[in-house]
Parts: sequence; structure tokens; C-alpha cells
Amino acid sequence: MTTNDFIAQAYGPLPSEGSVTWKTPSNIALVKYWGKRNPQLPENPSISFTLDNCHTLTTVTYQKKDVADSSFSFDIFFEGALNEAFKPKIEKFFERIQDYVPFVKDYHFTIASENSFPHSSGIASSASGMSALSMCLMSIEKELLPDMESAYFYQKGSFLARLGSGSACRSVKGRLVVWGAHPEISESSDLYGVPFTDEIAPVFFDYQDTILLVDKGEKQVSSTVGHELMHGHPFAEKRFQQATENLSKLKAILKSGNLSEFVALVESEALTLHAMMMTSHPYFILMKPNTLKILSKIWAFRAATDSQVCFTLDAGANVHLLYPKQELVTVRQFIKDELLEFCQNHHAIHDKVGNGAEQMDLSN
Ligand code: DP6
Repeated sequence: MTTNDFIAQAYGPLPSEGSVTWKTPSNIALVKYWGKRNPQLPENPSISFTLDNCHTLTTVTYQKKDVADSSFSFDIFFEGALNEAFKPKIEKFFERIQDYVPFVKDYHFTIASENSFPHSSGIASSASGMSALSMCLMSIEKELLPDMESAYFYQKGSFLARLGSGSACRSVKGRLVVWGAHPEISESSDLYGVPFTDEIAPVFFDYQDTILLVDKGEKQVSSTVGHELMHGHPFAEKRFQQATENLSKLKAILKSGNLSEFVALVESEALTLHAMMMTSHPYFILMKPNTLKILSKIWAFRAATDSQVCFTLDAGANVHLLYPKQELVTVRQFIKDELLEFCQNHHAIHDKVGNGAEQMDLSN
């Protein structure tokens, strides 16, 4: 598929109004996306676990404009209240996607969104938020083009989501999703995420992720700025190559189910992401002292037990604790006894691998 394949066909008569709802998950990368070029194309392939409990629920109500014009018309409600702060990001998103879903200029949209996780948790909501909005737009387009095939529907949903936020394209379909062309992953593309369809050891089907909320505040440096700093970064080329190699290695690990190798690769990826931040110009650190305390507790716990619990990090101070379901009881006890004290208000969110976006019927 190329970008041109996502340019919209001519639509028939447009319905005057309607409403659609999607629930889409957050995701956590195992091999990280860090560095992009225009238009929202990744410098290296990445792969993530799709989450289950952490999601965004978005309803888009659409009403045909009386007089069509070239502006975008929408209101956004977040958690029940009109939210002006989100408008510029959505406006930019509409600008980027207008050639692919030109009906966006024909309607006034009311977008109502809510997250399952607290907004001030430091959990990135752009992945679930942008994928939910994109899937709603795809449902509207499907109404205009009823013959659209299901594979194309999801691919285009992911394509649109990518234009909202890169990692959002991995929040559409599949338990494990790859974004970025990789020679050993068939169908992989820079344009959209694809479900990882190679063999996966059963241990990964229901992998657990507990998010330790170390810092719920606003990040000092946004992901967008962080990606930007990979341009001219002294280690950029090596890093992009390493991520590609790590994805090959992870592919084999996912098949074999070798958890020691999984732990080593995933933790190294997380620390490399933060090493890129520390070696950018200007440099910055998103981890907090409590992040590091948690990491050393995890290492001590692993050294003292036969546990395979490990951590990963996104662009922030929170720690994602990854562990197989068979360790749920012992790891949850470890979290309670040794890790919650390093979390803001002792707050953690238990999550696990999920399947992806889901359309909701709120009509009754
Ligand atoms: C560290 O997808 O939030 O979470 O494309 O600018 O919206 P934009 O960035 P974003 O970057 C996420 C980076 C990451 C790693 C990852 O999810 O792969």
C-alpha cells in the first residue's frame, strides 16, 4: 500500500447526521519509536503490546453543514467538559488527514472523549485518543463507502491515527503491533501499524503490565520535541539500526518464549530510549529518583527469586512492569510490599495485553 491508496474515492450522497463510538486502547512499546521524519514517518520500526484496561472511549456526532466551506468545524468535550486546550491538536490532525477523508469539511463534529485512566496520570493519552478519533472517522467513511473491505478499514484507521500521533497507529488491531518497514516482518509499513502475525509463544498471550505512576505531572519535554532532537543526534543512525536489529531478535524471542532474553532486550530498549534523551542537544532526563529506585528494586527482586518480571519505560517517569500471568500473585505482592511506596499516592494501574480497538453500540 502507498499513501495514494488512502486518498478517498468519490463519495455518494452524504447522510445529514449520525453518531459513532469507538473504544481504543493505549499501547506500550517493547522496541521503541524515537525519531521521525515528515509526514509522521518513523526512523525505525517499533513493536508494542496493545493494552486492555487503559483506553479512550470517543463518540463522534456529525451533522452536515448548511453551507459547505473549507474550514473545519468541531467541538471537543473531554470527560464531559468543553475542552479548548485540545482544539489546536485536532485542527492540525484534520489538516493532515483532509485529503484522505475529505468529508471532514462537510460536517460539524461534536467529539466527546473520556479515558479509563486519570488524565493526570502521566500516561500518554495521545495513542488511544488519536486512534479512537481515527476509527470514528473510518466508521463514518464506511457509511459513505459501504463496500470498503475490513482489512482496508483497519489499515486506513491506523494510517490516519499515525498522522495524529505516531504511536497511535499501533493502537488499532492486534495484541502485538509493528509499525515501520522491517525486512523480516511481512506487510510491515512506515505508513500504518500491522498486527504481528508470526508465531508467538503462549506465555505472551496474556502478559501483564502494571503501570507504576511515579510522576503524574506534565512532562517537561514533549515526545514531539524529543523526536525532533533525534535529527543531528550523534548516535541517531546507530540507534535506528539497533532498533531494527532488536526487532529481529525480539521476533525470535516471541516465538521461543525465552523470557530471560525477553527481559534483557526489553529493559535495554527502555534504557536506550532514555539514553537518547540524555545525549540529545539540549539533553534532558525524564526519569525521576523514584524511577531509578524502582528499577533497582526490580533487579534485586530478580536476583533473589526466579522471577522474570522486567520493566519498560515510555517518554516519562512512570514504570511499566511486565510479567507473565503465572507470576501474577507473587509480582502483585512484590508491588505492594516494595514498589508502591515510590508511586505518587501509592497509585498503580494493573493492565494486560488486549486485542485492540472495538466499535461500541451506544444506541440502547
Ligand atoms: C517513547 O507517538 O507520542 O512512547 O508521533 O510525536 O505523537 P508523536 O510521538 P509519540 O511518541 C511515542 C514515543 C515512545 C515510544 C513508543 O511508543 O514507541
